[in-house]
Amino acid sequence: MKSIKYFDDQVEVSNKLVVLRLDLNVPIKDKKIQDFTRIDLCLPLIKNLSKKKAKTIIISHLGRPQGKKDLKFSLKPVFDYLKKKLVSNIFFYTDEISGSTKNKLAFLKEGEVVLIENIRFYPNELKDDVSFAKNLATLGEIFINDAFACAHRKQASIHNIANHMDKKFGGPLLYKEVGSISKVLNNSKNPVTCIIGGSKISTKINVLINLIKKVDYIIIVGAMANNFIKYKGINIGKSLVENNSIKMIKKIYSISKNSNCKIFIPEDCVISNDFYGSGTNKDLNSIKDEEMILDIGSKTVKKIYEIIDKSNTILWNGPAGYFENRRFLNGTLSIAEKISENTKKKSLISIVGGGDTISAINKSKKKYNFTHLSTAGGAFLEFLEGKDLPGLNVLK
Ligand code: 3PG
Repeated sequence: MKSIKYFDDQVEVSNKLVVLRLDLNVPIKDKKIQDFTRIDLCLPLIKNLSKKKAKTIIISHLGRPQGKKDLKFSLKPVFDYLKKKLVSNIFFYTDEISGSTKNKLAFLKEGEVVLIENIRFYPNELKDDVSFAKNLATLGEIFINDAFACAHRKQASIHNIANHMDKKFGGPLLYKEVGSISKVLNNSKNPVTCIIGGSKISTKINVLINLIKKVDYIIIVGAMANNFIKYKGINIGKSLVENNSIKMIKKIYSISKNSNCKIFIPEDCVISNDFYGSGTNKDLNSIKDEEMILDIGSKTVKKIYEIIDKSNTILWNGPAGYFENRRFLNGTLSIAEKISENTKKKSLISIVGGGDTISAINKSKKKYNFTHLSTAGGAFLEFLEGKDLPGLNVLK
């Protein structure tokens, strides 16, 4: 079986143009970066390439601008941060990407870096378009993909670009993610519990269905759980829900029955009248029409602790509440603490992943112990399912 070649010190990059695909998709509010983890993790490779006198061209996406140039999704704040962190010269390329981009970047000197504006401003990126990918491929002689978090996306700068480059490698972060998650999965011990949070079932339905067949417990938290609570006939006031979720939930329950997987949903919650309010712990049957669920409640936390105590392997993706407001952060941090404690004391195997999950737990100054902390969300889940990811396959 073919395997991925990883970038190492043997690869000669001096005076060579290196196209580096990173995941610099960080949360940004009012042009300010809210969590630097993903960028900070990329810095050693960028610095190393500059030290080795490569000319580095960085490609990344930010958010989902749907193929339109929407400056709300500009990588400018990321560029400003990189400029502060790097000693080498770094430039921001905001022109169109076309056949002449290569010439426009000819000014680059050894050790210098260019960050290309959000690659998702181009519809052809999303279409994995061959000629667009070829244009990207002409920019360099070597391709390094260090964006594990995007490996599940069949998009031009992740997938088709690699078909048009002779020298292609996985980067150090990708190596660590693939290696650590595979190692954990190969050594996973039953019972296995999967905690899934975040807001949308539709984006995680396939993953959920596949995981149900493989794990013993599934715990649903976050806004996603609102749909399950509503499905049980409980009034959830003006809580966030997804249209047409009934069919998906029915399917999840029916498969879980056949697979002997127990599904746990919240039994109480923390509510408020809006996202900015303070929270009140409530039983599910007393939610008023003007209220919304913004975190899991204390009884639910206790029940989740019991399941974590019974588990030998935990896979966790997605926060338990609206963590952007600290008043609704308790559920997420409680889960993080318990998993961390059991990982340390009881040799629980724990894999925690997702950009939002990391942003949420970074709001606490505590240091958590997880077997592996992945910066990836969707890619992490699809890799756990055992799927072939296009961004990895093409590197083989
Ligand atoms: C992520 O945040 O999981 C990655 O950056 C991929 O983003 P996407 O889900 O918008 O493709």
